Amino acid sequence: MADLVTVILAAGKGTRMKSSLPKVLHRVGGKCMLQHVLDAAKAAGAKRNIVVTGFGGEAVQEAIGAQAEFAVQEEQLGTGHAVLQTKPLLEKETGTVMVLCGDTPLLTGDLLKNLYDAHSKAEAKATVLTAIMPDPTGYGRVIHMPDGTVEKIVEHKDATEEERQVREINSGIYCFDARELFAALGEVKNDNAQGEYYLPDVLEILRKQGKKIWAVATEEYESIFGINSRSQLAQAEKILRSRKNEALMAEGVTLMDPSSTFIDADVKIGRDTVIYPFTWIEGNTVIGENCELGPNVRLQNVTMGSGVTGQFAYVHDAVIDDGVILGQFVHIRPDTHLMEKVKIGNFVEVKNSNVGKGTKLPHLSYIGDCDMGEDVNMGCGTITVNYDGKKKFRTKVGNHAFIGCNSNLVAPVTVEDNAYVGAGSTITKTVPADNLAIARSRQTNIANWADKRK
Ligand code: UD1
Ligand code: MG
Repeated sequence: MADLVTVILAAGKGTRMKSSLPKVLHRVGGKCMLQHVLDAAKAAGAKRNIVVTGFGGEAVQEAIGAQAEFAVQEEQLGTGHAVLQTKPLLEKETGTVMVLCGDTPLLTGDLLKNLYDAHSKAEAKATVLTAIMPDPTGYGRVIHMPDGTVEKIVEHKDATEEERQVREINSGIYCFDARELFAALGEVKNDNAQGEYYLPDVLEILRKQGKKIWAVATEEYESIFGINSRSQLAQAEKILRSRKNEALMAEGVTLMDPSSTFIDADVKIGRDTVIYPFTWIEGNTVIGENCELGPNVRLQNVTMGSGVTGQFAYVHDAVIDDGVILGQFVHIRPDTHLMEKVKIGNFVEVKNSNVGKGTKLPHLSYIGDCDMGEDVNMGCGTITVNYDGKKKFRTKVGNHAFIGCNSNLVAPVTVEDNAYVGAGSTITKTVPADNLAIARSRQTNIANWADKRK
């Protein structure tokens, strides 16, 4: 859509959230509300997005960064006043301006695209997205002309008893002809019940100039749900989770218990992967096919291949290749790469390490800052001693090395290919290839000691 620009209103404080965080930065379905709105705008084909900030403006800009341009509304004098702040940025625009609110995280690209298409097809100067609400209390009501075009929108607080009977409400989402919008905004007054400059007044101003004002009603009123409180945030969370779960199941992913499975909007999962209950899959995570994950797995920003199994594991900012086995009670920390068929067993933590193909870390290990080759066997309780209290050092373990149980590898140190380390060793020097290193005190047996003790 070559000419679509969005203006996203996000200056309000969101008093009812009772929060020091601006309302639009509250997270739902794995990302902040404003990000959901931006993603819907982008999916609808918007080429520029302008966010109007006010309360907590700097935090909002930091969260959104280069994805949008920003206009600041110093004082919140109403939605019309908010849009007016974007005039310097949009003066040259001749296409369509779509106005959105930053607190409607359930919007979809399709819904916005349908609005844009209807607006273009109607050749209107302004088109409002409406919905028929069972209970319209609090919303602006849409009043039509006998020919079906829009006469005006009246706010609940300004409406007559008769107008309040109307169940068709203003969603707060509109398309405007850019030039008409800014010309009319200059004429909006604040002589109303709230003393605010109302954006919907633009519709009546344009209609009085003989311009066509159109309305499109959507049946998806869930999608235009605006969030004002923590309770509504929780309702939106539930809807977003359920949408994501349904989409994944439709694509061939098994979720054994969708109600206890929490998957963020941008996660991708391949076919025939089975997710057991109490599993969280978050952020920028991509999972391959035929994996079995859960119960109780939490993945954040993980790139995972196919055929991986994991249970009772927490993995973040890591790469897990095909056929890896994880768990249980495993913590895989950032900058770790577990290569094909690696096996990580009970009570193991791995951080900032590369673990080669087929290597096994079966029980009770801490592996940090380590580069391990292929088919290494790290015995139970092996620890990389990577920190001297000031600096971190790396450990290198070559292909096919065998580290005996309860060994300490004191970094910086290298165990070369095919080398062996005897159980209970504390290794401080290079173990050359094919050698056996034993670094522990010798055993002494004292004959008849037990008898003498009696
Ligand atoms: C608005 C509409 C109403 C519609 C409803 C849908 C107006 C006058 N009324 O009412 O017809 O049914 O949305 O939810 O527009 N904002 C600013 N700066 C301001 C005022 C508001 O950025 O000065 C932002 C808010 O942060 C919010 C959005 O605009 O994201 C809507 O403002 P809000 O005060 O919630 O408007 P409503 O009274 O809900
Ligand atoms: Mg509102």
